[in-house]
Amino acid sequence: MKDVKCKLVETEEELREAYSIRHEIFVKEQKLFLGSDRDEFDTHAIHIIAFHRDRVVGVVRVYETEKDMWFGSRLAVLKPYRGRIGKVLIEKAIETVKRRKAKRFMAYVQPLNVPFFRHCRWKSVGEIVPYLGVPHQLMEVQLQLFTTEIAKEERLNKMMIFLMLCVLSALYGELL
Ligand SMILES: CC(C)(COP(=O)(O)OP(=O)(O)OC[C@H]1O[C@@H](n2cnc3c(N)ncnc32)[C@H](O)[C@@H]1OP(=O)(O)O)[C@@H](O)C(=O)NCCC(=O)NCCS
Repeated sequence: MKDVKCKLVETEEELREAYSIRHEIFVKEQKLFLGSDRDEFDTHAIHIIAFHRDRVVGVVRVYETEKDMWFGSRLAVLKPYRGRIGKVLIEKAIETVKRRKAKRFMAYVQPLNVPFFRHCRWKSVGEIVPYLGVPHQLMEVQLQLFTTEIAKEERLNKMMIFLMLCVLSALYGELL
């Protein structure tokens, strides 16, 4: 889908919109939670939202559970906007945890969504287990498979340093 952008939540308003999408999908649509889907991870999670034009249409959150081990959860896209946005949110989540030097990135996935995650290059870990009272598959993505924005930035930085050194050595040569 065109015109989709993801960003980390920065304002109270963005956080409210993220929670509202989660409520729409996990409480109303899937009836996975009664009343509210918020939990203790929300306070220290990094929340990510997807925009289509100016509207927040998707959400996911990532959080560290132990050193360098990160989890992603509450991935959701509003029904009319499904198609391409889930994948973009997962890519942003991967970029976000990689920037924070994560070594492992995992998620508990509903069995229905396992093919979608597989399609996004995640692998199952062990058997299906109960999670939030319903069956879930633990899955993991190999972070090193992904060349993210960070790698591009690092390459660009190295190139800039190299160019600056070339300019400096040329200037130095002129001075001698
Ligand atoms: C799961 C969810 C986030 C996916 O979002 P989406 O925007 O529809 O997904 P995308 O279109 O980005 O999917 C990316 C790719 O995966 C493929 N895909 C999507 N669902 C798939 C499935 N069930 N099986 C196989 N492939 C699938 C798409 O065809 C697409 O393929 P392409 O890259 O070749 O075009 C969305 O369906 C949703 O919000 N579901 C309800 C909430 C939910 O169940 N969350 C997950 C909790 S574990």
